[in-house]
Amino acid sequence: IPLLALTALLGYLLGSVPFGMVWAKLFGLGDIREIGSGNIGATNVLRTGNRLAALLTLIGDIGKGAFAVLVARAALGEDAAQAAGLFAYLGHLFPVYIGFRGGKGVATWLGTILAVAWPVGLVAAGTWLVTAALFRISSLAGLVAAALAPVLALAVGRGEVFVLALLLAALIFERHRANIGRLLRGEEPRIGKT
Ligand code: G3P
Repeated sequence: IPLLALTALLGYLLGSVPFGMVWAKLFGLGDIREIGSGNIGATNVLRTGNRLAALLTLIGDIGKGAFAVLVARAALGEDAAQAAGLFAYLGHLFPVYIGFRGGKGVATWLGTILAVAWPVGLVAAGTWLVTAALFRISSLAGLVAAALAPVLALAVGRGEVFVLALLLAALIFERHRANIGRLLRGEEPRIGKT
């Protein structure tokens, strides 16, 4: 149990790294929390017009979820892997380094799911891409992909990740309350536009 708690703590500290803020600052784009939606994720970094900074944010935020899971699995096995992924995700939502005001976690969710059960992650990523290509709305793509993930887990015979996928989907929906409101009103901005 103490080892599992330590894994969760390390996952949380890693997930807390706000790559969007870091890259926006390094690229001289200002404080990302004062731009666009104010979110710290890749979608909002893209609103600065800097695609490289957005890509690096996406890679960092996916990578921290995946890395936390893979390290925990190598050290302690599957339960630790899931715990590390969950806490990396919570780190992104409530980052200790920036006053616990974090992001919505779609990228970190994807990295976690990919590393926990890659077939589920791959189909979820494909779902995100197809939805984003069809509608050009990042939040909608994230919501659709996240909602599908628990179903996918069962469909591909990875029932052991069902609870995690369901919990993460619920958190993603909760974090997108404002986006859902804008989607319902037809006011959600398209990818690449402000
Ligand atoms: O991952 C965040 C995305 O789903 C929505 O971001 O900035 O459009 O609220 P944003």
